[in-house]
Amino acid sequence: PNKQQLEKLSNDIKERSIIDEDLRIILNSFPKSAHPMGILSSLTSGLVAFDPSAVNIDDEEDMYDAILNLLAKIPVLVAWVYRRRKGLSLEYGDTSLAYVENLAKMMFQRPNKEYVQNDTIVSALNKLLILHADHEQNCSTSTVRIVGSSFAGLFASVAAGISALWGRLHGGANQAVIEMLEEIQKDGGDTKKFMSKAKDKSDPFRLMGFGHRVYRNQDPRAIIMKETCHEVLDELGLNDDPIFKLAMKLEKIALEDEYFIEKKLYPNVDFYSGIVMRAIGIPFSMFTAVFALARTAGWVAHWNEMMMSDESKIGRPRQVYKGKTKRDIK
Ligand code: ACO
Repeated sequence: PNKQQLEKLSNDIKERSIIDEDLRIILNSFPKSAHPMGILSSLTSGLVAFDPSAVNIDDEEDMYDAILNLLAKIPVLVAWVYRRRKGLSLEYGDTSLAYVENLAKMMFQRPNKEYVQNDTIVSALNKLLILHADHEQNCSTSTVRIVGSSFAGLFASVAAGISALWGRLHGGANQAVIEMLEEIQKDGGDTKKFMSKAKDKSDPFRLMGFGHRVYRNQDPRAIIMKETCHEVLDELGLNDDPIFKLAMKLEKIALEDEYFIEKKLYPNVDFYSGIVMRAIGIPFSMFTAVFALARTAGWVAHWNEMMMSDESKIGRPRQVYKGKTKRDIK
C-alpha cells in the first residue's frame, strides 16, 4: 500500500477492535482448564453471530468488513484468553498505540499500575508476528482454503485453521518444545538419552522444534528467531536461564549428530520462538495462540485471494481405493 492506503487500513482496523460485551459471556463460560487454542477457535467461530453479514461472500463491502473485523478483533481475543487464564480484568486496548504496543499493553497491563512499554518485548513480538504471518500451503492455511472453498465464510474458515495449527506437528510445536525441554531438565538433563529416544523407531518421541516438511536445510525464520532469542535473553538478563542453556546444548548435539545430518533435520522457527515467548513472560499454553494471531494475516490473505479468483473450485481431494474388492461375510 502507499502511505494513505496504509493509514486508512490501519485506522479501519483500529475502529473495528471493539468486541461485543456478550462475547465475554461465551469466554467466561469456558472452564479455566480449557486450552487457549480451543477457546480461540470457538470465539473466532462465534464472532459471526455478532456480525451476520460476514457470511455474504459475494458482497465486496461485507467481505472488507469481515476481513478487517477479524484482523482487529483477534489480538483482543488473544489478550482476553490470556488475561482470563491469569484472572485479570479484560481490556480493550488503546487505539492511539501501534499494533504491537497495543497488543503488549492489552496482555501485560496490570489493572492497578500504569503500563510502561518495554522496547525489548515490543521488538521481539514484532519480529515474531512478522515471521509467523504467512508460510504458503502449510497445514492450517490449506485447511482455511479448503473450508473457505465451500463458501462457509471467513470466520468459520479461520476457526478451522486455528484448530489445524493447534497440533504439535504444526504450530503447537512451540509449546511442545518448552514442555520437552522441561521434561529433559526434570529427568536430570541427560540430552544424550533424549537424542537416543528421538532416533529410536520404536519410541514415539521426536525432538520437537526440529525438522520441516519443506525445509531440508536451515529454516530461514529460525535463523532470525535465534538472533532475536539471543537479543531478548541478553537484554532481559536471562542468559543463565537453565531452559535456554539446555536448548543451546541440545541444538549443538543435534546439529552434529549423524542421524539428524543424514535426515536433514534442522531447528525450525518453533525451536526458538517458544524460548522468546517464555522470556517475555507469555505462558507456554498461550504460545500457539500468539502464533495464530500472527498467522491470521496470512490466512485472511489466502482466503481473500481464493475468493477473488474466477478459477477457484471447491476443495475435494480424490481417494483411490486400494482395499479388497470382495470380502466374504462369515
Ligand atoms: N525428531 C526425530 N526424528 C525426526 C524428526 C524429529 N523432530 N522429524 C523427522 N524425523 C525423522 C522421521 O522419523 C523420519 O525418519 P524415517 O525416514 O527413518 O522414517 C524422517 O525424519 C522424515 O520424517 P517425516 O515425518 O516423514 O518428515 P515430514 O516432512 O513428514 O515431517 C515434521 C515434518 C512434521 C515437521 C517433522 O519433522 C516433525 O515431527 N518435527 C517435530 C515437530 C515440529 O517441530 N513441528 C513444527 C514444524 S514448523 C511449523 O509447523 C511452524
